[in-house]
This record gives sequence, structure tokens and C-alpha cells, in this order.
Amino acid sequence: MSHTVGDAREAIAGSAGVLVCTGAGMSAESGVPTFRGTGGLWRNFRPEELATRAAFDRDPLLVWEWYNWRRRVVLECDPHSGHFTIARAQAAGRARLVTQNVDGLHERALEEVGGSGGADRTLALHGSLFRLRCSRCDYSRRDEESIDTTSPGSLPECPECRHLLRPGVVWYGETLDQEVLGKAFAWATNASACLVVGTSAVVEPAASIPRLVLQNGGAVVEVNPERTPLSELATVVVHGTAAELVPEILGEEP
Ligand code: OAD
Repeated sequence: MSHTVGDAREAIAGSAGVLVCTGAGMSAESGVPTFRGTGGLWRNFRPEELATRAAFDRDPLLVWEWYNWRRRVVLECDPHSGHFTIARAQAAGRARLVTQNVDGLHERALEEVGGSGGADRTLALHGSLFRLRCSRCDYSRRDEESIDTTSPGSLPECPECRHLLRPGVVWYGETLDQEVLGKAFAWATNASACLVVGTSAVVEPAASIPRLVLQNGGAVVEVNPERTPLSELATVVVHGTAAELVPEILGEEP
């Protein structure tokens, strides 16, 4: 098992394209709280108590207040050098991205580098904080405004079926969009190199993606300040942060 940036660069440079997989640690240095670290709490609730369909059915106001807070936190954050390095690699056709993050920072970085064709090179496995979708039918739309949580009656309704609109994210106990997941698995099956950044690698099915790359003979480089269950299996494990290491590993030669 190697631990050097040089080996990480080599594992990736030797491949025609790289599959980048990111988790909450990717955005930590932008100021977005991670799930399993400290600082992710809001009014003493744990995410697992609020990010569920049952919580929304029981108290949609409370859940929307939490999502308003999460949207505000994220809108005050900016993508960092790691996001921009990935975005430039996507724009150059060198990278595809599968993210578990719902914060939109990858998308913003890609827009800022003027990346075209980015949408078909990014899969947001867990949805987006900036989408609303109907709690009953298939309606969804992009939305960045604060939701009016003055009373249950002020919450947004579906223009098609009048049921409540909910955040466009995947909640605990829900299945992922099967089309998105199928595409992510297909990318993993065909990837000869994969860079995994800032995920605890414990939440399925996202955790299976780098494992699928390995099973198909690809190399996996893990970037994380801490060890994870993936560290045992990865080809190269580099301990450090996303903003520091992603530019060194994936950036163009200086
Ligand atoms: P976690 O919060 O579980 O893990 C964050 C990981 O990032 C940890 O392994 C940290 O060591 C690492 N980390 C922290 N700071 C970092 C930095 N600056 N650079 C690089 N890595 C750093 O986040 P995820 O693995 O993304 O799902 O969590 C997966 C899913 O769990 C989330 O998408 C969410 C949650 O349940 C849903 O909401 C469906």
C-alpha cells in the first residue's frame, strides 16, 4: 500500500480518464459541516432525526426550517481549490464525478470554470438542496429561495397535484434514483482509475462504487485525513485534506 502523492498522481495519470467520488469531507474546507464529524448539529437534532420521510410527514415546518438553515449555510460557502481542480478536469473531459454531496459546490465550480458538457459528467447521487420535488408526484424544479415557514399553510405546494413540495434530496431509508445509480455503476465498471475524496465510505450504495472499480481491475486513490473501511482496499491512500491534496494529485503538471 502506497501513501505518496507521487504514486497517487501516477495511478491517475496512467488512465485515460478518472472517476472522482466525493463525500462531505470534500466541502469541509469550504465551511460546510460534515455528517459524522462535530458541527453538523442544528438545534440539537441529529441529521438522522430530520432527514426522513416520517419526520417530514410528522412536522414539515420543522424539516423545512432545517433545510432553510442548510441552504443558508451552503450559500455562504464557496468552492475551494479542490472543487476547481475537479471542475477543470471535468471541463477538459478528463474526469467524471459522482458526488454524495447535496451542496451544489461542484456544480458552482464547474460553472465558474466555464465547463461545458458538465451535466453529463456529474452525478449527484443524493440529490440537491436546491431542488424542490413533490412529496407525491414526479414534479420537481430548481429553487434557491428561502422557504416561507411562517405556518403549515405557507409551505410550497406542487403546482400539479397540490401536495407539499419537499427538499429534492434522498432521505434515510429512501432508495436512490435508479437511473442515476445505474449510470454511476456503469462508470465505475469502466473506470481504470478512481479518486475518492472525503467520504467515510460507510453509506451504501455509494460506498460500493470504488469497490466496483477495484473489482474490475481499476486503481483507487483515497484522500482523507482519517482511515476509513476503504483504506484497507485502496491502491493508494493519502492522508490529508481535499483542498490541499486534490490539486496536487489531479491538477495539471506545474
Ligand atoms: P461523512 O460526514 O460521513 O464523512 C466525512 C468524511 O470526510 C470523513 O471520513 C472525514 O474524515 C473526511 N474529511 C473531513 N474533513 C476533510 C477534508 N478537509 N478533506 C477530506 N476529507 C475530510 O460524510 P459522507 O461519507 O459524505 O447521506 O456521508 C455519506 C452520506 O451520509 C451523506 O451523503 C448523507 C449521510 O447520511 C444522505 O443524506 C442520504
